[in-house]
Amino acid sequence: MRVDPHDRIGCPGGLDLADPDLYGAGDPHAVWRRLRRWDPVRWQPVGNTSGFWAVTRHADAGAVLTDHARFTSTGGVMLNMLGRPEPAQNQQFAATDPPRHALIRGPLQRQMSTRAVARHAPAIRSSVRAMLRPAAGVFDFADLTASLPLAFLGPLMGIPAADWPDLARWVSMSVAEHDPDVMVPDGPAATLDRGHRELFAYLLNLVLDHRRHPRGDLVDVLAAMPLRAGAVVANCYSLLLGGSAAIPHVPRATVAELVRTGRYADWAGRPERIEQAVEEALRFTSPAGHFMRLATRDTILGGTPIAAGDAVVVWLGSANRDESVFPDADTLDLDRHPNRHLAFGDGRHYCLGAAVARLTLRIFFTELFATFASFELAGDVERVRSTWLGGIKRMPLVGRPR
Ligand code: HEM
Repeated sequence: MRVDPHDRIGCPGGLDLADPDLYGAGDPHAVWRRLRRWDPVRWQPVGNTSGFWAVTRHADAGAVLTDHARFTSTGGVMLNMLGRPEPAQNQQFAATDPPRHALIRGPLQRQMSTRAVARHAPAIRSSVRAMLRPAAGVFDFADLTASLPLAFLGPLMGIPAADWPDLARWVSMSVAEHDPDVMVPDGPAATLDRGHRELFAYLLNLVLDHRRHPRGDLVDVLAAMPLRAGAVVANCYSLLLGGSAAIPHVPRATVAELVRTGRYADWAGRPERIEQAVEEALRFTSPAGHFMRLATRDTILGGTPIAAGDAVVVWLGSANRDESVFPDADTLDLDRHPNRHLAFGDGRHYCLGAAVARLTLRIFFTELFATFASFELAGDVERVRSTWLGGIKRMPLVGRPR
């Protein structure tokens, strides 16, 4: 008897990977696990006229991300751009293919290497220490980590601390437009537009200010490129969004899991493992949930024919739990080695901020483990309602300082 793969996926009401409730209230890992097994390159309809190929295995995800000739970034890289023309096409390097991609990324890359970002470590450490002053009673660990991006975006982009609360809200509107905490009354599309407009207006002022008073940071590097003002702002947007949206979710979901499984003390007691801890935290939490490409020609992926122009969405959160690559993939394992996770993507678009994100996370976890001996959960954990941002937005804890 032939078994319908849709039954095996186990969503009788119809599987909808574009439904933000799957990530906010459901269990995407259970769904992804079944997709990896039964339907690893699966067509997901969206409305009556649109849709995308959902890619859930590590090998297929890597194949898409590393082959820009077959899978272009120029049509937008997030699901919220599906079916919309990408206004930043070939202007913003995230939405550009090689060779033009390297023209914009190259000069920024020099300031973002492991060596170059190391000079920001003292500033990052002092911001993290200020953030971690032991809180008495119940506190929200999501609030505590909300300003983590500012620790490096201050030095890298010249963003003042006073602007952070507004920026953080506009970033959330731009990546988690379905979340009720940020959604405007006119709905998700209006929320997205509002977030974009606010950020672009803010960043235009930031660029103009840098032109008057250069500071030797990333914004100056972009402003000095032979690009139109709109393109400079679009690339600043990429840096700000990339730099701020995902990173707080790594410690949140990691600490949630360590508390749930009673292994916080084990991780805190092995500071010599900090590099491995951060890689495993990135794999396990995968806060940047997906990235999109468009097929440039008819092709085959994982045995499935894909037509030119089709959207292909790589689910990084799923690839990073692929049991054929990561034994015991659902366990947060400090001893995991090797750890070929895709949390920062792969290929030419590999995360520009990976070095500063790693540095910041190492500092954050080191300081956290040195400050708190243990945590207890003091209420319900709430997840973000977003197809892109996989993470936690509320997490009441009680911490025992050392
Ligand atoms: C834990 C934190 C982070 C995660 C999980 C993450 C994840 C990713 C991923 C998966 C990509 C690949 C996108 C694609 O293939 O289209 C990417 C690209 C990018 N990230 Fe990150 N990122 C993080 C932190 C940062 C930081 C701190 C910055 C900047 C300071 C940053 C800036 C960027 C930029 C500009 C790109 C586009 C690169 C390109 O298209 O060449 N990210 N990031």
